[in-house]
Amino acid sequence: QTKSTLQIEGDSNTTDQWTNTTDQILSHVGRRLYLDENHPLAITRKLIESQFPAPVFGNYFEKNPVVSTRQNFDVLGFPLDHPGRSRTDTYYVNDKTVLRTHTSAHQQAYFQQISRNEQTRPEEVGYTVIADVYRRDAIDRSHYPVFHQMEGAMLWKRPDNDPLAASKETAARIMADVELIPKHDVVVEDPNPTIHAQRNPLQAEHHSEEEVEAIAQHLKRSLERMVIKVFTEGSKAAAASAGGVEPEPLKVRWVEAYFPFTSPSWELEVFWQGDWLEILGCGVIKQDLLINSDVPNRVGWAFGLGIERIAMLLFNIPDIRLFWSKDERFLSQFRAETITRFEPFSKHPACYKDVAFWLPPAAVTGGSSAAGGGVPFHENDVMELVRGIGGDLVEDVSCIDEFTHPKTGRKSMCYRINYRSLERTLTNEETNEMHEKVRTKLVGDLGVELR
Ligand code: PHE
Repeated sequence: QTKSTLQIEGDSNTTDQWTNTTDQILSHVGRRLYLDENHPLAITRKLIESQFPAPVFGNYFEKNPVVSTRQNFDVLGFPLDHPGRSRTDTYYVNDKTVLRTHTSAHQQAYFQQISRNEQTRPEEVGYTVIADVYRRDAIDRSHYPVFHQMEGAMLWKRPDNDPLAASKETAARIMADVELIPKHDVVVEDPNPTIHAQRNPLQAEHHSEEEVEAIAQHLKRSLERMVIKVFTEGSKAAAASAGGVEPEPLKVRWVEAYFPFTSPSWELEVFWQGDWLEILGCGVIKQDLLINSDVPNRVGWAFGLGIERIAMLLFNIPDIRLFWSKDERFLSQFRAETITRFEPFSKHPACYKDVAFWLPPAAVTGGSSAAGGGVPFHENDVMELVRGIGGDLVEDVSCIDEFTHPKTGRKSMCYRINYRSLERTLTNEETNEMHEKVRTKLVGDLGVELR
C-alpha cells in the first residue's frame, strides 16, 4: 500500500517505486533536540561550536532533512555504484530525493553562501552546521536510524590568475593563521606523511604541496583543540563522579582515511577510558567541488562528526535510544552548559527471542542480485522490518547463526531480537505479540520460510 505523497516539514513530496521512508522514521523529523538547551545533544553542540566562533565561523542548523540525490551524492563525487546510494542503506523519499545521510549534503549550499556574502560579511569564511541525518542500519545500543552530525569547513582565498604560481604566498597566509591557534600540550600521534601518492593523494592539478601542508596544519591544530576542549570537560565530569580521582591524561592520533569529497583525508581518534575511538572524518576539500560551488578561487578544509557518539562518551549514556526519551527521569538529569554523568534510573529486564528462516531459493546476501536472479537479501531489511514493529522497544538485533545446506544450497539465518523498554517492564504477552508479527512479516515481505 503506497501513498502518493509524503508530508515532510510542510512540503508535499511525491512517492514512487524508490520510496522506502516510513511514517515511523518521519515521526522523528522536527524534534530539533539540538536546540533544547538542557538536552545532552544541545550541550555537546554548544561545546563544539564554542571552538568555531564568529566572526570567522557562522554556526548554523538545517531543519529540513529532505535533500536531492544530487546534493547528498552527486556533487560530492560519490560514484554511481557507491553502496551508500542503495535503498538498503538510504531512506529514499522518491528516486530523486532522500533523507540526508550526512550533513555534507549541505556543503555546496554553504560554500555558495560564503560566495554570496563576500561583500557584506567578508570575514565569515567558515561555518558549522548541525542537523539530523538518516541511515538504514543495524539495531544495537549505539545505532539508531536517526542521529545528528555536525559539519564544519573553512576556506582561504587564492589569487584568480594562476593560483598555483602564487601558492607559496597562499601557504604563508594560511600558516600565519596556524600561528594564531593557541597551542596545547596533549600527546598527538601523527605517523603518516601529509600526502601519500597512493593512499592519500595531493590534488596535483589544483594544489601545491605547501598549500596542502598548510591547510592540513590548520585543520589538525583546530580539530585537536576542539576535541581536547570537549574531552577535557568530559574527563572532569568522569573524575568527579568517580570521587575526585585524577582524570587520565588525554591522547589523540591521526589516521589516514578516504572520502569522495576530500583529499588528502584523515580521521581523528581519541584514547578514552582504555580504547582508541574514532571521533571525526576530515580532509582538504576537493577543488572540483569548490569550483562547482561558486568559490573557485578558494581552498580549504572540512570535517564531519557524529554528535551522539561524543555525547554518549561525555555523559556516559549507555543506549542511543535515550536521546529520544521524553521521560523526565532522563531529561531532568541534564543542565545547559554542564557535563554530568548520567545515572541510569532503572534497567528493565531484556527478553530475547530468536527467529530462524530459510532465505528464498537463490536469494543472495550482500545486496547484489548477480547470482541466480533471486531476491537479494540485505540484513538492513530485517532491521527495518523489526524496527517497524517493535520501534524503540527493540534494543538489539543480531545474526547468531548462518549456514548453507550442503545438499540444497539454501541458506539459513537465525536472528536474535532483544526486546527491552527503557522505561518499563514489557509483559510476556506484548513481547510475544510483537515477535509473532515479526515472524509473519518476514514471510510476507522478504519471502523467507520460517524454520
Ligand atoms: N560526511 C562524512 C561522513 O558522514 C564525514 C566528513 C565530512 C568527512 C566532511 C570529511 C569532510 O562520514
